[in-house]
Amino acid sequence: MKPIVCSVLLIALLTPAGFAAQPRTLTVAVDAPAKPISPELFGTFFEDLNYAADGGLYAELIQNRSFEYSSTEQANWGPCEFWELVKTGDGDGQLGLGDARPVHVKNPHYLLLTVLKPGEGVGISNPGFDGIPVEGGKSYEASFWAYQAFMGAKWGGPGPRVDQGKPMPMTVRLESKDGRVLAEAHLEVSGRAWAKHSVTLTSNQTATDARFVLLAHQPGGLALDMVSLFPRDTFKGRANGLRRDLAQAIADLHPKFMRFPGGCLVHGPGVRRYYDWKKSVGSVEQREAQRNSWGYHQTMGLGYFEYFQFCEDIGAAPLPVVAAGVCCQHAGDSPGRGQEGLPLAEMPAYIQDVLDLIEWANGPTTSKWGSVRAAAGHPGPFGLKFLGVGNEDDITPDFTERFKMIYDVLKTKHPEIVVIGTAGPFPAGEDFEKGWAFSRELNLPLVDEHYYVSPKWFWDNLARYDTYDRKGPKVYVGEYAAHDEGKRNTLRSAIAEAAYLTSLERNGDIVQLASYAPLFARRNHTQWTPDMIYFTGTEVFPSLNYSVQKLFGLHHGDAYLSTVLEAGPAGARLTASTVRDSQSGDLILKIVNGDDAPQSLAVRLTGAAKLPATAERIVFGGASADTVNTDGVRPAVIPKTERSPVAAEFSYEAPANSLTIWRIPGR
Ligand code: AHR
Repeated sequence: MKPIVCSVLLIALLTPAGFAAQPRTLTVAVDAPAKPISPELFGTFFEDLNYAADGGLYAELIQNRSFEYSSTEQANWGPCEFWELVKTGDGDGQLGLGDARPVHVKNPHYLLLTVLKPGEGVGISNPGFDGIPVEGGKSYEASFWAYQAFMGAKWGGPGPRVDQGKPMPMTVRLESKDGRVLAEAHLEVSGRAWAKHSVTLTSNQTATDARFVLLAHQPGGLALDMVSLFPRDTFKGRANGLRRDLAQAIADLHPKFMRFPGGCLVHGPGVRRYYDWKKSVGSVEQREAQRNSWGYHQTMGLGYFEYFQFCEDIGAAPLPVVAAGVCCQHAGDSPGRGQEGLPLAEMPAYIQDVLDLIEWANGPTTSKWGSVRAAAGHPGPFGLKFLGVGNEDDITPDFTERFKMIYDVLKTKHPEIVVIGTAGPFPAGEDFEKGWAFSRELNLPLVDEHYYVSPKWFWDNLARYDTYDRKGPKVYVGEYAAHDEGKRNTLRSAIAEAAYLTSLERNGDIVQLASYAPLFARRNHTQWTPDMIYFTGTEVFPSLNYSVQKLFGLHHGDAYLSTVLEAGPAGARLTASTVRDSQSGDLILKIVNGDDAPQSLAVRLTGAAKLPATAERIVFGGASADTVNTDGVRPAVIPKTERSPVAAEFSYEAPANSLTIWRIPGR
């Protein structure tokens, strides 16, 4: 392995202390040949944890719409969780659970509503996820599947007689917490066969904690399933769509790719409990909901079609991850049970599922799975290029055997697919070494590294990739975050990540992709901190780390220019990188100061044929390292954009704990 000298770091290490007062020279070789780097370096990673999908990005407002919540997910949950019987006036009725005539075999439970005495309506209510947020004047698409189980009294027993052919009159309503009607629509349900009923509700008022109510107005029995409510105003107006504000927050990162659906979610809480992409496509009422590894419910309403569609909508390459034929070593019904492999006899069928995924994403509409994609509304291929196999798995013989079985077939049948292997959960150690050795043995195109470490670790490891073997597999830094004390999203952590990202730019020839993790966390439903973006039903609270990601996503390049920082005092936290964006021709210089005091620089842009008088300069930081954002108030630190003079030589004082970006037009 030939070491690549990291000029920025090496000089810093050789420097005696006590040099601080002097401006350090930062030299950017504008005229020297630039090194091509990955144009898709900065992406994002979406995992359904912290209620990131159901109750998060997926815009469905009803919780437990298909009556499939279960005590396998949370001990006190059952199929009627989050549903209540509503009796108005002198009405009376009962709720029961049905499984004899499901909407679809994969969606086995439904609700049986019996109206004994209608009063002013007997039915059900649902509070959504911590209350249903509605906006005055906005429209919501309510729908449910239903059939008439009987009219009048069951078995024709005592009670009012109603003509069996008569439809059931129904009311669909949004109500405020104190019972005011915010929106209402009326419809009828008739027939003994399941059918979907839809109405549009327009709220007359804004409320953060409305409830959804469905009432029946005649004695009788109704079967109900897939009771759903979506805002009409989803991201890009898509049906079965995504919450506009959260989707936009991802889009604003300008990610070049998006990895999904996990994480640990992928290999699942037990053998055969992996995330099965096939369960996530097709009509939503036919998708098989399942427990996710994070201990709650996945409707699969946000499924592979929606993920791929979203990637296309935001211009990000889709990067799905499939299990490597083993379950999570940390999951299972008995803690510490460890990794288990699918029985080898089941591997051919599992591998076929992986091949089918590629056909579903890229195949012609005439193919079996391409036709499923087309039927969902996307006849053209999605252009799948990347495929992750495995996630942080223990590198055991069970794992390697199954991984190799999958990879051998992929390599032969789909050489165009870039397969990404895995190197465990840590930046070093046994699984890391074994994962890399195995990946080299197979000559994999890319290996996924993960690390959740201290801000100090990031500063201490800026040279990590400088010496990576350029001839072996490339790197995908699939999950990383600087975990500061108390797992807070401090400016210290954000600036440490910024520093590290400059080192990824410098090594953008070997590091092809990188994505922070985790992305989303719903307040009061968070299993993992820190996260990049926090949210409630109505608000989005980006962290300081989000700002850094967004700045790197916006100001990325495809070639690296030699950037040499003169030595400074030992321990001084200062680093820099320069990239060029060949599309705009812009030169993008980033300087990161991780010290609690400003640091002075003499910047030299050598060999620049022509420089504009001024350039855009964005400064993020300049505050205490312990600064954090607080929900509901203006972010504590926001990037400030200004015009700044540029010349072949200029001085700059990098504020304490800051990232500064110059964007200098090259044409
Ligand atoms: O990002 C959260 C979790 O961290 C992921 O699911 C897993 O891959 C990692 O351990």
